[in-house]
Amino acid sequence: MKMWGGRFSGETNQGFLEFSSSIGFDVRLYPYDLACGKAWAEMLLLAGVLTPGEGDCIGKALDRIEEEFRDGSFEFGPADEDIHTAVERRLVEIVGPAGGKLRTGRSRNDQVATDTRLLVMDSCRVLTEGLRALQDALIGSAAETVDVAIPGHTHLQQAQPVLLAHLLLAFVYMLERDVWRVEQARASADVMPLGSAAFAGTGVNVDRELLARELGFSRPCLNSVDGVSDRDFVCDTLYTLSMVMVHLSRLSEQIVLWCSQEFSLLELDDRWATGSSIMPQKKNPDAAELVRGKSGRVIGGLLAVLTVLKGLPLAYNRDLQEDKEPLFDALDTVTGCLHVMERTVDTMSFDRERARELVQGGLITATDLADFLVEKEMGFPQAHEVVGKVVAYCLKEGKGLNDLTVDELQGFSGLLDAEALRWLSVEESLARRGCLGGTSPVEVARQLDSARRMISGPT
Ligand code: ARG
Repeated sequence: MKMWGGRFSGETNQGFLEFSSSIGFDVRLYPYDLACGKAWAEMLLLAGVLTPGEGDCIGKALDRIEEEFRDGSFEFGPADEDIHTAVERRLVEIVGPAGGKLRTGRSRNDQVATDTRLLVMDSCRVLTEGLRALQDALIGSAAETVDVAIPGHTHLQQAQPVLLAHLLLAFVYMLERDVWRVEQARASADVMPLGSAAFAGTGVNVDRELLARELGFSRPCLNSVDGVSDRDFVCDTLYTLSMVMVHLSRLSEQIVLWCSQEFSLLELDDRWATGSSIMPQKKNPDAAELVRGKSGRVIGGLLAVLTVLKGLPLAYNRDLQEDKEPLFDALDTVTGCLHVMERTVDTMSFDRERARELVQGGLITATDLADFLVEKEMGFPQAHEVVGKVVAYCLKEGKGLNDLTVDELQGFSGLLDAEALRWLSVEESLARRGCLGGTSPVEVARQLDSARRMISGPT
């Protein structure tokens, strides 16, 4: 029997029933729907709607239903259009008509909003764990590369030498902001709509503050109309997940680049790479590419839900059912991607010899030469101009800055002496960048230390 058949005389079109059904995806709300059912039964008992005997039967039946879902023995009926319908149908089967009393003063509108919020709050814990694990793997990789200098890029042009660990730690700090955003998304979900009923508020005398506490919420929503139609928390979560994917996608891109033969800086573990069906020599970074590609569906999910919401009149509208698939898909996608990236990072290895090859011999310490002239009291614009001429000379002669002799340097400025040559070394360049957040070995060791403390602290 349907939950709403009374006013209809004709049968619902079968195709339409299938079209509108959400049980295929909202079944995962079952633990939360059952928790809400139990808490609501207690409220009905306090309000005198249920007798203690009925309350007891309903509580036990809900436990049994939970067991059935968990062990896979729950049987869906043809009229189970969503998780709420399925649970109520089964409850009445077990308890008899008294089971139907649980619907008193409650609506699927406040139920689904409450269930989804509980799911988000739970999922946030899993997300934080995934982020922390990836941070830990990155920190592990950084710890092994605190003494490896490589060329850093801007515009993908060689810019200045940096420590490889410095680059890896950049991702740790990105992910730290994600941890913070996950906490914000959780806080956004942490408001209880139950008791809003369809939208006008329940007619049953319930203590919604108490109900909120029972369900693990910090507080009930203060406006029932807003309560059933607010999906800001879904958008906040999807935005958070989108930012995680943007970061994972950038990390992936870095990995893909470093794996290329042109860089040859990084080797992926065989377990986290694939081959080509035609080119036998290939080892492809598919894991990183898939993560980069999957960012599209998560960002798409955010746009989908924002678009669903933007024209809705108050209060509940069935459009709101469209929030769940993008949300669930994004949660699953991000959880999966965090795991794959964590394994990829934890098992990859850098070629230290290749790093040395890449960083030595070029023009990468040109900024240091300008800095040297500034140290000798030349203005930076003049120094930039002089070094620009030195660079042009090197390019013409096919030399690196380190190949220049003092005599050659003197041709550009009398200030460029033997000491200037020392400033051109990668080691000196790195060592001079000891400012807070800079790339000197001492400072990067400090960052590594503070990142370690950061990820083990309270979130
Ligand atoms: N499956 C619905 C959803 O996800 C549950 C609420 C249905 N409410 C209704 N009045 N039809 O939004």
